[in-house]
Amino acid sequence: MNNKKYRFETRQIHAGLDPKIENGSRGVGIFPTAAYRFRSCDHAAKLFELSEAGNIYTRLQNPTTSAYEERIAALYGGVGALALSSGMSAILITVTALAKQGDNIVAAPYLYGGTYNQFRISLRNLGIEVRIAQSEEPEAFAALCDERTKAIYVESMGNPTCAVLDLEGLAAVAKAKDVPFVVDNTFGAAGYLCNPFDWGANIVVDSATKWINGHGTAMGGVIVDGGNYNWANGKFPQIDGPSEGYHGLNLYEAFGAAAFIVKCRVDGLRDLGCCPSPFDAYLMMLGLETLSLRVKQEVETTWRLAEYCRSHPKVERVSFVGFEDHPSYKNAKKYYRFGSSAVFTVELKGTLESTVRFVEAQQLAAHMTMIGDSITVITHPASTTHKQLSEADLKAAGVTPTLLRISAGLEHADDLIEDFEQAFACVE
Ligand SMILES: Cc1ncc(COP(=O)(O)O)c(C=O)c1O
Repeated sequence: MNNKKYRFETRQIHAGLDPKIENGSRGVGIFPTAAYRFRSCDHAAKLFELSEAGNIYTRLQNPTTSAYEERIAALYGGVGALALSSGMSAILITVTALAKQGDNIVAAPYLYGGTYNQFRISLRNLGIEVRIAQSEEPEAFAALCDERTKAIYVESMGNPTCAVLDLEGLAAVAKAKDVPFVVDNTFGAAGYLCNPFDWGANIVVDSATKWINGHGTAMGGVIVDGGNYNWANGKFPQIDGPSEGYHGLNLYEAFGAAAFIVKCRVDGLRDLGCCPSPFDAYLMMLGLETLSLRVKQEVETTWRLAEYCRSHPKVERVSFVGFEDHPSYKNAKKYYRFGSSAVFTVELKGTLESTVRFVEAQQLAAHMTMIGDSITVITHPASTTHKQLSEADLKAAGVTPTLLRISAGLEHADDLIEDFEQAFACVE
């Protein structure tokens, strides 16, 4: 693809395809190989010392995966992307590339339950402290930063309450504190609904399992480097300093604006090993070709479903960022195309038992822990995604026993509404 900046819809189909590699094939080829032949010992040595780019071993690189990474970087407008085997590994590699034992990161009060657990347990066990801001206001993040802070970390839309924080305000805090601003943009759908780089983010992570894949057929995660952070501020000797793993090579001097994403690959992926399979990279590329169409339709259906639920007598409350009574209504309007994502939550009247009956009466919506699938998904956070949380943490995350999260799929909205109607009839 030439350098002309095509629109998102065009980039999602064309970016990353190299007709030379594909032998003229219309789509990306799948390279099911673990390793690559070296041309000579000298060639191998150059690849290993990072003085020449090229494939060594699929844990680090694969032509199918590279095409997918190029497409993701093009969609986000980043200088580079790295594909991982899951969203969780994208988060882990990002944070451990930035922080080491004794360092801390400052994170948002609303986070996906899995992220919260990784931060609270696994990172703590690695000696990295995660300080959770007491409120969503930028000042609350600023108050927790000190000289060992290595990132400010938020989600562009919090899971499951759909809180949208003030990305611009938080980017300003990160800038003032001279730390990278990292945004989990899973709900922003590869930048189609929300692109955090437009608002000052430095690094984006995205669970590709969701809207990027779009059909629930594979796990994946990506890290995208905005190439807009100055690593030469003395805080990141692992990037701007002699590299332990590469005979003192300075990654910032060698790779410039792309130093962070190179670091994630050559240290993170090399040592932690959570690479995607080439087949999964292919599925992600295929999913991306229709992302804008799918997401647009899903958002439209979300409005219909949310409005229907809001007017239903058995519903206590609907929490949808598209509605004016949602605390994040203004931020969603500012940061999200269409002012919303394809997810909302509904709190039913009644009890845990009646909520379970409603879920189990669904004929179309799949009862799963998933979002961004072409099938509409209904999730009960209290018994699934947020089950490990304490009562106090559940309350802080806004998770009650009758709360349900709905991720709209691609079925006809009328069929979904009729199905909800019969499920409500099963609840007295
Ligand atoms: C906002 C967010 N971030 C990260 C993840 C983790 O991604 P994965 O399930 O691909 O590991 C999820 C999963 O639901 C998520 O919702």
